[in-house]
Amino acid sequence: MGSIITVISGKGGVGKSTVSAGLGTALTLLGSKVLLVDCDSRLRCLDLMLSTSQNSAFDLTDVINGEAEVSEAAVAVDGTFGLYVISAARDNSLSENADTFKQKMKDAAEIFDFIILDSPAGIGGDFEAAVKAADRFLVISTPEPVSIRDAETAAKQAERLGDARARLIINRMEYSLVKKGLYANADNMIDRTEVQLIGIVPQDTLAHKNAILGVPVKKGRAAGAFLRIAKRLKGERIPLPKAKKI
Ligand SMILES: Nc1ncnc2c1ncn2[C@@H]1O[C@H](COP(=O)(O)OP(=O)(O)OP(=O)(O)O)[C@@H](O)[C@H]1O
Ligand SMILES: [Mg+2]
Repeated sequence: MGSIITVISGKGGVGKSTVSAGLGTALTLLGSKVLLVDCDSRLRCLDLMLSTSQNSAFDLTDVINGEAEVSEAAVAVDGTFGLYVISAARDNSLSENADTFKQKMKDAAEIFDFIILDSPAGIGGDFEAAVKAADRFLVISTPEPVSIRDAETAAKQAERLGDARARLIINRMEYSLVKKGLYANADNMIDRTEVQLIGIVPQDTLAHKNAILGVPVKKGRAAGAFLRIAKRLKGERIPLPKAKKI
């Protein structure tokens, strides 16, 4: 039985979709079969980030309405072995059919090792549906204290709505600023937050470039971090760096 992971955040634009795609790619490099589901029907983006839009005849609306099987709507990502994407719903069908969606994802977990649900920022209907279907949450934040605080709020909300625990990923960490001591506050906040840290992803131009080009991130510093987090998700014990020590 595969694991259903919902990726959430408090603030928007902190890297949920980048992390979802990066972790999905890393998990396939470790031999897993992975399904990414774009649960943001307003700002749909995974199909562009991974260049699957040309090949997708169906989207999440079709899956929820029973017009397409998960296997029909899931488009294989070029350059990967075992990574698939279902494009976002084109209407309100996700937020209006949370129970059906949950059941469809449970069924899909028979076929996939990991299902990653890329949710919208904040706490709307799509977020609720994505959260209710989860076995666990990954909450994404940048190193800014405001973002960490918002992430903690979103994690608590998700834990109230869903039957799962949240772990924190700090994304876009800048080494040069860490060295200057700028993230001392962030480090303290990470120490104090009730959401346990599972990984830190550096700011990486290659990750940004790949997102624009629509190709999966397999090389570079962010890819290395995704691989370490993927191993932790698979239960390997990999030591965690402290923000000020990386
Ligand atoms: N580690 C990183 N290094 C460099 N750029 C990054 C990194 N993570 C994300 N980005 C860039 O930040 C921007 C926002 O990322 P992304 O779209 O993944 O955020 P999001 O949380 O999914 O946004 P939204 O809330 O709108 O769904 C993108 O331009 C992306 O390329
Ligand atoms: Mg996104």
